Amino acid sequence: MLLSAEKVAKHFGSFRAVAGADVAVAAGEIVGLIGPNGAGKSTFFNCIAGDVAPTSGRILFDGVDVTGAPAETRARLGIGRTFQVPTTFEDMTILDNVMVGAFLRHPRRGEARDRALEVIEMTGLKEQAGQRARSLGTPGRKRLEIARVLAARPRLMLLDEALAGLTPSEVRRAIELVRAIHAQGITLVIVEHIMEVILTLAERVLVFNQGHVIASGTPRQVVDDPAVIEAYLGRGHGRPRRARTP
Ligand SMILES: Nc1ncnc2c1ncn2[C@@H]1O[C@H](COP(=O)(O)OP(=O)(O)OP(=O)(O)O)[C@@H](O)[C@H]1O
Ligand SMILES: [Mg+2]
Repeated sequence: MLLSAEKVAKHFGSFRAVAGADVAVAAGEIVGLIGPNGAGKSTFFNCIAGDVAPTSGRILFDGVDVTGAPAETRARLGIGRTFQVPTTFEDMTILDNVMVGAFLRHPRRGEARDRALEVIEMTGLKEQAGQRARSLGTPGRKRLEIARVLAARPRLMLLDEALAGLTPSEVRRAIELVRAIHAQGITLVIVEHIMEVILTLAERVLVFNQGHVIASGTPRQVVDDPAVIEAYLGRGHGRPRRARTP
């Protein structure tokens, strides 16, 4: 397994945001991670990437125990993650933003620049490379967030609603980008509320509810699972959303 999360829990006081989740991801997989708002998906990603320390449990990445390792160590080992709310440096250019990611792997400026340009090309940001990040709209921001992570050459990418807020045609282009990333040998875990994205991309889907994995299977199996339907409807909000059809 490339990633093994064993009984990972994250408590905030007495509240269990992640309540003992077991998740294993093999190299080369595209796994979808879905669940209603507040299910603990982003908190789980935070635990995997080292942005928060889990309360308990164990995280192995390619056999290495990274449970207590800082985020930078995990990034060096190959864990990359996008943030649900992008962490863009607004006054820096798109190129400089992506170079921040590239420096992790390429300490020399010239090499970092070359890597950043490569990734900018791949993510379709070439035209805007010299512009400040603040000039970007939602699709550009989503691409920049992906580019920054990709520049660090991850082996595993955790995408946290990286396609949210896009129009249906932008979603389709972004799906192609995710496929291209996967074709480079990068393993993916995708948190996404847009069911079209999950149904199109994921080979296997895990469903989170109240910090637990409540179902897993093929995309079709999980969307038809009564426990999954109940989890979404029972909360009265945050149902899986299909992308609007044009
Ligand atoms: N730092 C924090 N302190 C206290 N509670 C938190 C903190 N971070 C998250 N939570 C709570 O933990 C729960 C899980 O949040 P999380 O952001 O992981 O959910 P999610 O599944 O990503 O939801 P969404 O689909 O809306 O992004 C929520 O109830 C949230 O309010
Ligand atoms: Mg979230």
